[in-house]
Amino acid sequence: MTDPNQPIEALLAEKRVFPPSRDFHEQAIVRDVAIYAKANKDPEAFWAEAAQSLDWFQKWDKVLDWKPPQARWFVGGKINVSHNCLDRHVATWRRNKAAIIWEGEPGEERVLTYADLYREVNKFANVLKRLGVKKGDRVTIYMPMVPELPIALLACARIGAPHSVVFGGFSAESLRDRINDAQSKIVITADGSYRRGQIVPLKRNVDAALQGCPCVESVILLRRLGETASIHVQAGRDHWWHRLMADAPSYCQPEVMDSEDPLFVLYTSGTTAKPKGILHTTAGYLLGASLTHKWVFDVKEEDVFWCTADIGWVTGHSYIVYGPLANGTTGLMYEGSPDWPEKDRWWALIEKYRVNILYTAPTAIRAFMRWGEKYPNSHDLSSLRLLGSVGEPINPEAWMWYHEAIGKGRCPIVDTWWQTETGMILISPLPGITTTKPGSATFPLPGINADVVDEAARSVPLGGGGYLVLKSPWPAMARTIYGDQDRYVEVYWKRFGKNVYFAGDGCKRDEEGYFWLLGRVDDVMNVAGHRISTMEVESALVDHPEVAEAAVIGKKDEIKGEAIAAFVTLKEGSTASPDKMNELRQHVVKKIGPIARPDNIYFAAELPKTRSGKIMRRLLRDIAEGRALGDTTTLADPAVVAVLRGQYEEG
Ligand code: WT7
Repeated sequence: MTDPNQPIEALLAEKRVFPPSRDFHEQAIVRDVAIYAKANKDPEAFWAEAAQSLDWFQKWDKVLDWKPPQARWFVGGKINVSHNCLDRHVATWRRNKAAIIWEGEPGEERVLTYADLYREVNKFANVLKRLGVKKGDRVTIYMPMVPELPIALLACARIGAPHSVVFGGFSAESLRDRINDAQSKIVITADGSYRRGQIVPLKRNVDAALQGCPCVESVILLRRLGETASIHVQAGRDHWWHRLMADAPSYCQPEVMDSEDPLFVLYTSGTTAKPKGILHTTAGYLLGASLTHKWVFDVKEEDVFWCTADIGWVTGHSYIVYGPLANGTTGLMYEGSPDWPEKDRWWALIEKYRVNILYTAPTAIRAFMRWGEKYPNSHDLSSLRLLGSVGEPINPEAWMWYHEAIGKGRCPIVDTWWQTETGMILISPLPGITTTKPGSATFPLPGINADVVDEAARSVPLGGGGYLVLKSPWPAMARTIYGDQDRYVEVYWKRFGKNVYFAGDGCKRDEEGYFWLLGRVDDVMNVAGHRISTMEVESALVDHPEVAEAAVIGKKDEIKGEAIAAFVTLKEGSTASPDKMNELRQHVVKKIGPIARPDNIYFAAELPKTRSGKIMRRLLRDIAEGRALGDTTTLADPAVVAVLRGQYEEG
């Protein structure tokens, strides 16, 4: 969380600007700045024209039905996402084009052409049907980064069953809550996955989760580890993927979906302990993902595109699966970590597969920066022609390093701002047109009406900062929080009125209108590009029998952006110790998953509170970051702070 009133000068210290080179401009897909004016003049006509790029069973009657805050796009249209990602490509020369080039962490290689992917998806769609999955049924997917993961997503889309992918770094308990919230009938998983040479026991987590999920009838189990995995297979419930596929029919008619039928649910953290199931629908989402993929990354027919995200996050949904496949792109998919077995793994992959476009996160860039240039320099990166960044604000130093050490000064950088809820990139350069400034996501894309407002919802003039909002609907916007429409309206469409989407980010604009994203303005942390709610971690901590109270903050971290720091008071009779600290950290891992493990736990006799009883997080952040204390006059008992502070300085 960043103070939206922080001085922008710090960000603007880097004065260099980067216009697109003449060569890049001339070959770019989007070359004409008039596109912004055209989209602004008549957004509906603009989106309708863009939607011609999709293959419709039946065209829409109405482009947009906007009853704030509810939008329906391409009303009356009939379409299927899997048909758009596969059938229309296999009907052309792209049939034998590589759709997914995959490399496993231990070094296996697989290439699936569009025809291969089509065959597998059709068969798997039939497998799902045979297990009783019908249009509208939810399917939870908890899998490693292997080709069967996009196959599972596309098979769900083919039969109209919304998927809910749960990232493999979540615990059994998190998985259980997400399965129950979505009321999934089926869970798709694997015997395990690899992470830095270690095994992640996915199936064991599923078994534990399913102790508390009466809605689940069947589990489909992919063999990833093979003989080495000691797993339990429950007769009648668990089915091996390969057995089910062996006799599955090779064609499955794609379901005719309404534009507004649900495509998927994806859980993300909010300001309460309960994650939100963000619901995306069919046509608008597919249009948003595919159009931005093509325009922002300037993807050409012959390009190899690599998005390094995990499909468990929205970035993977939109820019590994749906966007690239709808565009008939060749994508690289990698299972493992950047530093396994060596810190040059990514650069070796770029050289090996001649990757042209790389899309990754600032946290990874900062880690590479620390490891030094010898790793990228030991590989031929000359195939790269465009670099992307996503997930958190990219600091100008990391931007410059990315530009020079990886892009060798040749490759435009697109810093792309968006969210799980937006479905598609909303603020980003168009690389053939936009002059970039290191650290700025530059401008809203054509057709996107973003603004920066103050507390009273008044637009802040250029040069000032406030809250980022969106003042018009866009096709890939979330439609609701699954099962909780009231919360959807409350969280996003209330603070500045029911016509205005509140993103939860602070933002400044400079005198030239460039957008500078400043981070979350709510109690959501961004840890290595992962969104984690302070409340979620707090409730995991107080779930421990010895914890009386907990307050969690994100503290600045050079690599991760933010690191999790927790302040804990123990119950009578319990004593603080290094062992207790490890036990509590482990407890959070058990409740949420390794991604939420606190870096620091500070034990305190009391937490600093205002007279009305609100925990003073700003103060805790100051303490954790070792800063001078700000105004503490609203504190009920200022002595508490001194105690906390003293402890911080000792430890
Ligand atoms: C939050 C959304 C969809 C991207 C993956 C994360 C932060 C994302 C940027 C950026 C500054 C960014 C925001 C946003 N964020 N991209 N380019 N510059 N901040 O998706 O988990 O839904 O998180 O990530 O704070 O609200 P997410």
